[in-house]
Amino acid sequence: MAVVFPEGFYWGGATAANQFEGAWDVDGRGPSVDDHFMGGSVEKPREITLDIDPNKLYPNHDGIDFYHHYKEDIALFAEMGFNMFRMSISWSRIYPTGMEDEPNEAGLAFYDKVFDELAKYGIEPLVTLSHYEMPYALVEKYNGWESRELIALFEKYCATVFERYKDKVTYWLTFNEINCGTSAMGALFETSMIQGFEGPASKVVVTPQQCYQALHHQFVASGRVVRLAHEKYPQFKMGNMDCFILSYPATCDPADVLANLKEMDRMNWYCSDVQVRGAYPYYAKRYWRENGIELKVEDGDMQDIADGKVDFYTFSYYMSGTVGTHEVEMMQGNMAMGGKNPYLEATDWGWQIDPTGLRVALNEIYARYEIPLMVVENGMGAFDTVEEDGSIHDPYRIDYLKRHVKAMGEAIDDGVDLIGYTWWGPIDLVSAGTGEMRKRYGFIYVDKHDDGTGTYERRRKDSFFAYQKIIKSNGAEGLE
Ligand code: BG6
Repeated sequence: MAVVFPEGFYWGGATAANQFEGAWDVDGRGPSVDDHFMGGSVEKPREITLDIDPNKLYPNHDGIDFYHHYKEDIALFAEMGFNMFRMSISWSRIYPTGMEDEPNEAGLAFYDKVFDELAKYGIEPLVTLSHYEMPYALVEKYNGWESRELIALFEKYCATVFERYKDKVTYWLTFNEINCGTSAMGALFETSMIQGFEGPASKVVVTPQQCYQALHHQFVASGRVVRLAHEKYPQFKMGNMDCFILSYPATCDPADVLANLKEMDRMNWYCSDVQVRGAYPYYAKRYWRENGIELKVEDGDMQDIADGKVDFYTFSYYMSGTVGTHEVEMMQGNMAMGGKNPYLEATDWGWQIDPTGLRVALNEIYARYEIPLMVVENGMGAFDTVEEDGSIHDPYRIDYLKRHVKAMGEAIDDGVDLIGYTWWGPIDLVSAGTGEMRKRYGFIYVDKHDDGTGTYERRRKDSFFAYQKIIKSNGAEGLE
């Protein structure tokens, strides 16, 4: 039986400003934290520099230059049939240091043009307010989200973009993969706690106290802006965004089952329990106690959190892992690592491919929250080869796509209220984890390379047409 996707299902792609806009210092934009990250690879972590050295290569500076190619790119998304496009706003394009009283008009005008272009094709924007970036000045002054001061600065930025785009954007997400803030690597990207740090990204050290305090500030900030949205813009729909790393017990040893349950609590449920239910979950106190965490909670914080419950739940899904108490071989990931699973194959970058896990995740999340869900990132980073005639054959990506779409269809049939799917990186862009271009996710190839060379020419890969077919039939065809 063919899978049946509901009418009006959102099909699209997802991006992040810092990974694809480029134009890092154009039209008044201030440097963002990612502008201090050099390129790396799986073997060589990205280097962070305190100053921007003109003799070094920072891949996010130019990204794939969506800033100057947005018309062409949006036309290609429309050609694939997108009715949703996930993007983020670069905070430092709007407030270059985060601390100005007045926003940067040129930055605001850029997103007006992008939203207008999307509207031309009937593509609904899904906007992430904070996707792994902030003005670098806030890192220097406050050590990112470690400081409570960030709450008010973030509110100011959100109030500005809400008011400006109230007639153009309905769907908003507060923080990308907020739950990555529970770990040191995630703290690097998600909470930007790298004040004064220079060196390989893997050497950043943060304590659990810093991570969970920073998350508390983000929960309060998220709660306040969701409340503002609900009060002032009732048409808005506000979502959270989690990086769902499904994990299985490594064996049926009860100790492994328990270890996995606790890891699922930390990694996958802690943040969404707060953002969906509006309070810290029952298991938080013990976790804080055992990890030496003493949260500083001010009067009104818990009310802000309670008032800021999200309307829909969104997540990224790339892989699954295993957790156990016995010795396990670790898999590779960018934020979270789990153990290897002998039943699964992995991508060129070692991420275990598990479409069935997506169906499991969708069922588990929906059973817990019973609010609409969206998969707002899913995809595979792979090496692509451009043939002599310019074509790009990527059957591996098509296979990954089809299997995950099928799994979503099954979950819908299970009864899950899934309302949308945005593939990560519908167009090649800079990898967050490694800073590489050769780790390609796109259905659209971009001629841009790790050494900074390239013409920025766009080309349709075979997967472009595969996704187009799936979208055109609303998931009824193209999955064989
Ligand atoms: C998610 C992030 O973790 O995964 C994206 O939200 C990121 O920003 C994506 O690009 C893929 O990871 P990577 O490291 O391959 O770019």
